[in-house]
Amino acid sequence: MLIVKEISKLEFLIQKEKNKGKKIGLVPTMGALHEGHLSLVKKAGEDTDYVVVSIFLNPTQFNDPNDLKKYPGKLENDLKLLETSSCQLVFTPGVKTMYPEPDTRHFDFGKLGEIMEGAFRTGHFNGVAQIVSKLFTIVKPDVAFFGMKDFQQIAIIRSMVKQLNIPVKIVSCPVIRDNDGLAKSSRNVRLSKEQRENAPWIYQVLKEARNKVQKMSVQELKDWVITEINKNLYLHTQYFEIVDSETLMPVENWNQTKDRTGCVAVFCGDIRLIDEIIL
Ligand code: PAJ
Repeated sequence: MLIVKEISKLEFLIQKEKNKGKKIGLVPTMGALHEGHLSLVKKAGEDTDYVVVSIFLNPTQFNDPNDLKKYPGKLENDLKLLETSSCQLVFTPGVKTMYPEPDTRHFDFGKLGEIMEGAFRTGHFNGVAQIVSKLFTIVKPDVAFFGMKDFQQIAIIRSMVKQLNIPVKIVSCPVIRDNDGLAKSSRNVRLSKEQRENAPWIYQVLKEARNKVQKMSVQELKDWVITEINKNLYLHTQYFEIVDSETLMPVENWNQTKDRTGCVAVFCGDIRLIDEIIL
């Protein structure tokens, strides 16, 4: 497994593989790797010939400076985990490498950028689009892999790729959970023992919501989920939205579409957790 920090070196190595006719897979990450990330790397190994994992804690997507400061992660641990995966090259650039100049680009994703995460994390998706577009330009992957835990992020990236005509296939991968149902997240290590014990309640409520589809109105179910999650004293729901899984536009009645996803953001203390479920 090669570890590369410089863009010129990376481009040289990837071009070499492309010349051999290899299909390049990219898994963008911010480090603090866990089984969720590793599931994307595994899928990339199955679908492509040469897997590149990028590890870059992208400052432009953090709307909360405290969140950036407290973001966990040790490169050494991440590299150890990747050693036994199908990753062949790790790209670990510094901030100056990715942003030799401030990125002043402003993306407009219309309503998609204004709802859910877009509403509560101003500028977040613009930062995501900035860094992922740069990674796509540098790595030129044939396929890039993203997790459905960040459901809206995938839609944003698909939209960005269309806007910029980037020739890359986007593959979405299922949410990996701990045995008690809590979606794996780099932020989970920041939970206290009590918070960690209570956080799985989020997914328990989401699973229960599945049984209530069609039995109450969309609005009633949305209210029920929020009330139910908030019954747990460790949890406070920021939003729960039911959206069309394709367009991500909010669903107002059950007949609108059969392809629905429930998306939630919940504070557990000051740690913000997100999750999703197919409804
Ligand atoms: P990060 O949070 O490190 O996540 C990297 C990728 O892993 C994302 O596609 C995310 O959806 C996926 N992932 C995280 N937890 C997962 C889980 N439990 N199951 C399945 N997949 C999971 O998302 C980002 O980084 C950044 O925004 C990035 C795209 C790298 C741009 O900076």
